[in-house]
Amino acid sequence: MFKRTHTCGELRSNHIDKTVSLNGWIHTVRLHGQVIFIDIRDRYGKTQLVFDSEDYNGNFEQVKKISIEDVISVRGNVRARGSVNPELETGEIEVAVDELLILNETAPLPFMINDRESATEDFRLKYRYLELRTKELQYNLDLRHRTYQVVRKYLSENKFIEVETPVLMKSTPEGARDYLVPSRIHKGRFYALPQSPQTYKQLLMVSGYDRYFQIVKCFRDEDLRADRQPEFTQIDIEMSFIDEEDIISYSTALTRKVFQDVINVELPETFPRITYHDAMNTYGCDRPDLRFGIELKDIKSYTDQSDFNAFKSAEMVKAIIVPGGSKYSRKIIDQLTDYVKTSGAKGLAWMKVQDGVLTGGISKFFVDHLQKTMMVDMELKDGDIILMVGDNTDIVHASLGALRINVAKREGLIIKGDFKPVWVMDFPMFEWDEKAHRHVAMHHPFTAPNPKDIEKLNSDPLHVLSRGYDIVINGSEIGGGSIRIHDTNVQQQVFDLLGINKEEAQAKFGFLLEALTYGAPPHGGIAFGLDRLIMLLADTENIRDVIAFPKTTSAMSLMDNSPSDVSDEQLKELGIALVKQK
Ligand code: AMO
Repeated sequence: MFKRTHTCGELRSNHIDKTVSLNGWIHTVRLHGQVIFIDIRDRYGKTQLVFDSEDYNGNFEQVKKISIEDVISVRGNVRARGSVNPELETGEIEVAVDELLILNETAPLPFMINDRESATEDFRLKYRYLELRTKELQYNLDLRHRTYQVVRKYLSENKFIEVETPVLMKSTPEGARDYLVPSRIHKGRFYALPQSPQTYKQLLMVSGYDRYFQIVKCFRDEDLRADRQPEFTQIDIEMSFIDEEDIISYSTALTRKVFQDVINVELPETFPRITYHDAMNTYGCDRPDLRFGIELKDIKSYTDQSDFNAFKSAEMVKAIIVPGGSKYSRKIIDQLTDYVKTSGAKGLAWMKVQDGVLTGGISKFFVDHLQKTMMVDMELKDGDIILMVGDNTDIVHASLGALRINVAKREGLIIKGDFKPVWVMDFPMFEWDEKAHRHVAMHHPFTAPNPKDIEKLNSDPLHVLSRGYDIVINGSEIGGGSIRIHDTNVQQQVFDLLGINKEEAQAKFGFLLEALTYGAPPHGGIAFGLDRLIMLLADTENIRDVIAFPKTTSAMSLMDNSPSDVSDEQLKELGIALVKQK
């Protein structure tokens, strides 16, 4: 091998007449009779190589045989190109090759590296190491790398200290199922992989490390979606002697710094805030996308006055107004109806605004004067379509919340490169889980209640607000955290409400409860979903695009085929017997 003197993205006109060596992969081959042009590629770029049979001393026939993705090493002279290629950073020059070494001939490729879309995602995941050669994934991993650096620098400069916490640990309650690891030494006992380092970072506060952070892998065995992976990365942060405002101001500054330094986008100095209650009412979800309007409007008072009876008994009736939607054909409306049904809605009612009146759909059930009132109150305009769902609150919010995003995409209301951050505040402490018939924590059980609502903890727990907060950008929850309970009594009260009795609390988090008795400072923190942050920076909706070796939505690694069987010997050592699945 000729050790490289330059990378494939480095040579410029000031290198002309120099003898250089390049190493890399064959990107393209163009045969022009007695002259062969080859683009050699590495992660820094591409350079045009020229093999001219008249000047080339080696075996010209061998050059003819090399193929895309072979690994080569060349030595030659840099010269000016006949015609400059402005598309290529090295487009001013080419390398006239004197010597060629083929370092590795590739087997026939399973898919075209130049064209990711030429293969299905599953297939590309099987050959992920090849897909990682693509420009797109190399760009994404570079974004990720630069983000780590910005985060570490910013937090270190602000006196945060990075501490690693165990990966083999006791189960933490973040709401998902744990990944368990059997212990060989203590047969029948298990470690859990951390759903987050929540308990450890709180313990570090008790230990006096008042500003902690960690870029850390977390593991959750939960239903996967486009923005969820079973193992994902958090930027985990915790601080002592602070309140919400400190966490929000550091987190805002960190987010701004990342956007500025990594993709050169300036976010506003402060991010707007919205309460959980307002977010649900206006956008139908607790992670509102504020890049467009299309707010949910309560129209129950109008539908109650109409002759449309299907909504009369509904707990809630809301609508969204889509400007320009009156062009929607029956077919599109049917598609939108099917779409809301996936959120549990029974159907989608609609009316169009044309020539100053409501037409089509259920408009005939609304008498003239009612239509006029609606036109004025709801500021309806010609060309609008009103899309309505009546049902229980959860279904109305879930279906219209999803529909507003669907129609915003359809109408091209989402502008590329637009980022709208927002803090969501004042979450309720608890939700009522109908199936389990008990309260569940909306954040996690260590989240402090708002002091104003402490009285209501026992009498009216569902109306107790927490000191939790989420940071949302463009409809993606990129982080969440809270001020914690640092008083054992309040902690026990919250456990009681969550149906965790004293013995259970002691068995599960006795160590934390005890630690809180030994001088625990007031503390709180946040964790950013690093992968989701990179998704925004990389402008992708697929979390797998920003992770080097991701899992599928069924939590498989198609490349190495994990999870996989283990030997009987290994199971025996762990004292585990498998039960045959029926
Ligand atoms: P939370 O559970 O909200 O909080 O997680 C923090 C952030 O992590 C990201 N996230 C995920 N990203 C990808 N795949 C997943 N399966 C996944 N689950 C969560 C989200 C989320 O906002 N210990 C607390 C934080 C704290 O209170 O300080 C916690 O883990 O972006």
